[in-house]
Amino acid sequence: MSFVLALAAGLASPLAFSQAQPAAPKSKTALVADLISRMTLDEKIGQLRLISIGPEMPIAQLADEIAAGRVGGTFNSVNRPDNRRLQDAAMKSRLKIPMFYAYDVIHGHRTTFPIGLGLASSWDLGAVDVMARTAAREASADSIDMTFAPMVDIARDPRWGRTSEGFGEDPYLVSEIAKAAVKGFQGGTLPVPAGRIMTAVKHFALYGAVEGGRDYNTVDMSPMRMYQDYLPPYRAAIDAGSGGVMVALNSINGVPATSNTWLMQDLLRKDWGFKGVAVSDHGAIIELIRHGVAKDEREAAKLAINNGIDLSMADSVYLKELPGLVKSGEVSMKAIDNAVREVLGAKYDMGLFRDPYLRIGVAKDDPPDLNADSRLSRPAAREVARKSMVLLENRNRTLPLARSAAIALVGPLADAPIDMLGSWSAAGYSKNAVTLRAGLNAAVAKDGKGRVIYARGANITNDEGVVKYLNFLNWDTPEVTQDPRTPAEMIAEAVKAAQQADVVVAAVGEARGMSHESSSRTSLDLPQSQRDLITALKATGKPLVLVLMNGRPLALVREQQEADAILETWYTGTEGGNAIADVLYGDYNPAGKLPISFPRSVGQIPTYYNHPRLGRPFTEGKPGNYTSQYYEEVTGPLYPFGYGLSYTDFTLSDVTLSSPTMARNGKVEASVTVKNTGQRAGEAVVQLYIQDVAASVVRPVKELRDFRKLMLQPGEERQVRFTVDEDKLKFFNAQLRRVAEPGRFNVQIGFDSQSVREQGFELLQ
Ligand code: BGC
Repeated sequence: MSFVLALAAGLASPLAFSQAQPAAPKSKTALVADLISRMTLDEKIGQLRLISIGPEMPIAQLADEIAAGRVGGTFNSVNRPDNRRLQDAAMKSRLKIPMFYAYDVIHGHRTTFPIGLGLASSWDLGAVDVMARTAAREASADSIDMTFAPMVDIARDPRWGRTSEGFGEDPYLVSEIAKAAVKGFQGGTLPVPAGRIMTAVKHFALYGAVEGGRDYNTVDMSPMRMYQDYLPPYRAAIDAGSGGVMVALNSINGVPATSNTWLMQDLLRKDWGFKGVAVSDHGAIIELIRHGVAKDEREAAKLAINNGIDLSMADSVYLKELPGLVKSGEVSMKAIDNAVREVLGAKYDMGLFRDPYLRIGVAKDDPPDLNADSRLSRPAAREVARKSMVLLENRNRTLPLARSAAIALVGPLADAPIDMLGSWSAAGYSKNAVTLRAGLNAAVAKDGKGRVIYARGANITNDEGVVKYLNFLNWDTPEVTQDPRTPAEMIAEAVKAAQQADVVVAAVGEARGMSHESSSRTSLDLPQSQRDLITALKATGKPLVLVLMNGRPLALVREQQEADAILETWYTGTEGGNAIADVLYGDYNPAGKLPISFPRSVGQIPTYYNHPRLGRPFTEGKPGNYTSQYYEEVTGPLYPFGYGLSYTDFTLSDVTLSSPTMARNGKVEASVTVKNTGQRAGEAVVQLYIQDVAASVVRPVKELRDFRKLMLQPGEERQVRFTVDEDKLKFFNAQLRRVAEPGRFNVQIGFDSQSVREQGFELLQ
């Protein structure tokens, strides 16, 4: 890694660039100021437009617009010949300001890695780095300069379809991943070298807290919760150097993010010192009219530009309205110049003024086939995918499977290439994806002992309305293809397969479109078609393994009873089928842990583990009356945050603290001994939580503050030491000041958020 970083730094040095372009590089400030002084108003406004290449703007027209200085960047054009043609057009414009090209490189580019929830389940920042740097390299090779990532919206309501894209419910874990992702994509500090791409962290802010988990809904939140729980990941990405920020579509406490001056000015620019470019989300400026805070396009443009929205994505209001607004004095030239400065500054930081063709390269090197297998990073994708799976159940050690087993492989997701990729797979190509069926067949063919008997068993859903919804976009391949047979016929075939087999592996869950933008749900159940299939399979008496593919926590009470083993795979990406086979056969010992709690039912939402303390909490084993619970259901999540099994067993010693007190600015060391008491090598994730026993405001029951993943051989034991310093005790008080208050703290260490060992200490005055 250090070698690659050093290489990246070398590439970024003026020396490396000066070889490509002999002109002495100007400083960023000087270059940008000089350009601004020479730009016309129309040219300035042009720079603020981010246009999607597509049917409304064919490439020839776009090239003309660019040559006339009316476009600053594009998104969705993902190949070098097109982007070269557009860059050529920019080089013909009066001031030759280079274009930049953005894209949704979210969890991979040509190679698709696991979705956000899967990456987070690895609790492995190195895996996040591998995804981000690989995606950056591949996207850069396709002439992309900027990604609309990482998506770090905290999600605590799994009805929200975009839960899949993010990294879960916990501010600490999501913040750590946010930093790793920014560094992986950008390759360290700015300027971003070739082979890396600039990030635009999104969606600023609080998009994951839309009411009821219904996408685009309003967000209403106390400042304390915002500061404590929802804002830290954006801040972490910005502190890690993210060059851009994408602004959320939702409103916050009555004001849309796009026109929210507290958010964009006071917090982002003034408090946090953000110096990069702010990009609106798709059509968000014009949506200010529908939000009801702008009466027309003119007012929408005025609100957005005066709020520091530098780039307008996919609408024409800046183009149409800004000239008149400047003329009338409603928008100052200073506001326009500020936005232009950020856009040009970002282009500088992408290295484009030194070499506008930095990521476009020369035509002779263009790949003949964008989706060629040789362009993929399959080993990295398989490795990361293996790390992203969470073993939820494993009764009677049903898993790993015997090599010689005859497997009945059933379920609508057993052989669905497009679903392996998950939503926002962007440039991922479903024909390159290894399905579970292909992965198991390859494993069986390799050692020639076992057998796979495949039967689809069920459609994703029997609800044609849902199928229609999922196929709405009508992409090249339909998202969901229905088997025309009746449910009974399909189940009968699956049962027959089960009867001929030693074990049943059922790949069930959600089509990827069910966990996507705008795909909010009112239920977290598996669709009925699949529930019926599972019940029929259970009735055969054969051991039943559920391989789940889904983009949100599901309510699995019934499935937990029926299945012998459950493996949560999320959406594993291009190499998914091979990686799942590795886990099923035990070639890889699963070590993923949940980054989000699994409720028992939709009615239990929210179930996040780090909820505020209560005056009347429910206590396990005591009557529920007059305590905080739902009386018809077991209290607490089905699977807690941080949970996940292994094929081996681990024990944990009591927690030892280096001191019963901590001085101001001091430290306490907390240590535990972890032992692998099982028969296989495996990785444990040791999690450190802190509980503030009494504070000036209500604090969470506990909060994750550190974690360590370690590999232990059978019988091996190791001491794990955590340093708890004052920073780990800090929180936002009622005045929104980040403080550590003296008093008692409990250090809890465990293998998930519920089963922990505890030891207390006192922070002194
Ligand atoms: C999404 C963003 C995405 C953008 C561009 C929007 O609909 O909310 O996350 O980056 O489209 O594709």
